[in-house]
Amino acid sequence: MDAIRQSDDRYRTLESFWKGQINSKIWLIDHLEKYYQHLPYNILVCGGWNGVLATLLFNSNLDITRIVSMDIDQNCEEIAYTMNKDYEMQGRFKAITSDMLTYEDYGKHNLIINTVCEHMTTEQYNQWLDKLPTNKRIVLQSNDYFSHKEHVNCKQTLKEFQQDCNLNVDIAATMPTEKYNRFMIIGHKK
Ligand SMILES: C[S@@+](CC[C@H](N)C(=O)[O-])C[C@H]1O[C@@H](n2cnc3c(N)ncnc32)[C@H](O)[C@@H]1O
Repeated sequence: MDAIRQSDDRYRTLESFWKGQINSKIWLIDHLEKYYQHLPYNILVCGGWNGVLATLLFNSNLDITRIVSMDIDQNCEEIAYTMNKDYEMQGRFKAITSDMLTYEDYGKHNLIINTVCEHMTTEQYNQWLDKLPTNKRIVLQSNDYFSHKEHVNCKQTLKEFQQDCNLNVDIAATMPTEKYNRFMIIGHKK
């Protein structure tokens, strides 16, 4: 509530709490808990927006040492810190303003999450993937919500997303929402 109340653009902040947004992140965490819960995680969230995924991750059963939430939009940093104040005070959370295409510390993390693939062109996505070390666990999400004005690279099907993502895929899944389908891939860089 503080994060929304203190925002310059409250409606925009509220968007990150919409049902589809929250459910898709809980769905992501459920998969990690079910299939990958053993590692202590040092997580990087690329396009972490207002830090909601980080909050949900900290409140999950996963063993999490640290989360960095990175977004290119500088308005997100303060909101993400409000969302994750307790964890920041424990030295376990950091919000940074950065383009994921210029971020240099991918090697520090053992789980890299990018739920904003629909916001990146294929060229940007491939450039981003090139920067990641091999053998990192990677979680991707995209969707078929073509009519959204900020979406530049939606996928028609999970199969198309899987073909285009250039990962060794462990898990590929679809979550229907009221308006669109959300696609998720968990895998490793080839
Ligand atoms: C609207 S939000 C999140 C939507 C997404 N479906 C989700 O729930 O995660 C998309 C975010 O991606 C961020 N973003 C887009 N391109 C980026 C980049 N190259 N580096 C870092 N953040 C980026 C935007 O600033 C925005 O905050």
